[in-house]
Amino acid sequence: MPKLIVVDRAGNQAAIEAREGLTVMEAIRDSGFDEMLALCGGCCSCATCHVFVDEHWAEAVGMPGGDENDLLDASDHRGPRSRLSCQIAMAAALDGLRVTIAPED
Ligand code: FES
Repeated sequence: MPKLIVVDRAGNQAAIEAREGLTVMEAIRDSGFDEMLALCGGCCSCATCHVFVDEHWAEAVGMPGGDENDLLDASDHRGPRSRLSCQIAMAAALDGLRVTIAPED
């Protein structure tokens, strides 16, 4: 099963199992990170699943889509590798992906 490295807002890092087919948001939320609010449940309408993708993974993860991009623009914390984690599907090719949970807006 692919592994996902998650860094929380305090800088603590943990490796979690992230089953293929789940989104990165679902894997983080289901592993008990209460910072991952994901209020809309993955409908790409709340931006409370904002993460920063590690620079080594940015190309593999890709760029945000149109709606996602618009939502990220509304965040005070948007950075060059910002993504909404509900829009990233876990796959074998992302084994070892490292993301940091963005500060709360
Ligand atoms: S969970 Fe709401 S936008 Fe990702």
